[in-house]
Amino acid sequence: MNQGSVQELAALAAGSGQKAKILTVASGKGGVGKTNVAANLAICLAAAGKRVAILDADFGLANLDIVLGISSKYNLSHFIRGAKKLDEISQPVCEGVDIYCGFSGMEYLTHMTDFTRERIVAALDSLADNYDIVIVDTAAGIGKTVLAFCMASDHTLLIGTPDPAAITDVYTLLKVLTINKYEGRTSLLVNMAHDVNQGKKIYRQIASAAAQFLNVKLNMAGVMVKDDHVSLSVQKRAPVVLAYPKSSSTKVLMGVAARISRVPLSCSSDEGFFRKVVNWFF
Ligand SMILES: Nc1ncnc2c1ncn2[C@@H]1O[C@H](COP(=O)(O)OP(=O)(O)OP(=O)(O)O)[C@@H](O)[C@H]1O
Ligand SMILES: [Mg+2]
Repeated sequence: MNQGSVQELAALAAGSGQKAKILTVASGKGGVGKTNVAANLAICLAAAGKRVAILDADFGLANLDIVLGISSKYNLSHFIRGAKKLDEISQPVCEGVDIYCGFSGMEYLTHMTDFTRERIVAALDSLADNYDIVIVDTAAGIGKTVLAFCMASDHTLLIGTPDPAAITDVYTLLKVLTINKYEGRTSLLVNMAHDVNQGKKIYRQIASAAAQFLNVKLNMAGVMVKDDHVSLSVQKRAPVVLAYPKSSSTKVLMGVAARISRVPLSCSSDEGFFRKVVNWFF
C-alpha cells in the first residue's frame, strides 16, 4: 500500500468518528429570511446524502415547523422539563431530515434562565453525534441565546438584506462574536437583493469592514434576490426548494448547501431526490 492510500484511509477513519458540523443561522435583524434559509438548506443537504437535524432555537416565536408544514406533539420544552429525551421529541421532515421543534413565548414572557439556555446548547453536542450536520435557526436580535448558539457552532451563517438596518445588525453581531473570541467560520448570505450585483456590493461592504476593523474573514455564502416564490412557498407550508425547484432561490440555496457541505450539488442532479421528497409535503 502506498503512502497516499494510507493517508486516505487514515483520513477516512478520522472522518467517520467526526461529529456533525453545527451551523447556526443568525442575523441580528428580524424578518430577513433566517427560518426559510435554515429549512431549505436542510432539504438541500439531505439531497446531498447528509443526515441533517434542524433545531428551532427561536424561543420568542418558534415557527420553523410552520414553514416546513410539520406539526409535532413534542418540542424542546418537553426535553427541558425532563418529560422527554431529546430523541423522543424529534420528528421526521423528509428522508434525511429530522426537526427538533421549538416553543414560543419563553424568551419574551418568562425569560429564559441561564441554566435552561445552557441545557439546550449542551444538547447540541448529543445531537451532533447522530447527524452529519445540525442546523440551528435562531431568533432576531443578539440576545444571550442567539449568541450562545453562535458561539457553540462551527459555522455561523449570517443573513443580511439591502436594508441599512439589516447591514448594521449583521455587522454588530459579527463584532460581538469577535469580542467573545468566536473561533468558528462566518459566512454571509445576502437575501432579498434587487439583483446579484447589489447583493455582491453589500457583501463586499460588510466583508471589508470586518477585515479592516475586526480582523475577521467573512466568507461569501451567496446572494438571493427578492423572489415571490419564497413567500408563495410559505403560504403552501412547503420549502421553496420543493415547491418551486426551478426558482432562482432554489438554485442559490443549492449552491450555499454545496459550499457548506463541500459536496458538489446541482439542481438537476437532485431532481430525483426532490421529486421523491415532494410526496412528503403535498
Ligand atoms: N428571497 C426572498 N424573496 C422574497 N421574500 C422572502 C425572501 N426570503 C424571505 N422572504 C419572506 O420574508 C419573510 C420572513 O422570512 P423568515 O421568516 O424566514 O425570516 P426570519 O429572519 O426567520 O424572521 P424572524 O426574525 O421573525 O424569525 C417571509 O414571509 C418570507 O416569505
Ligand atoms: Mg425566523
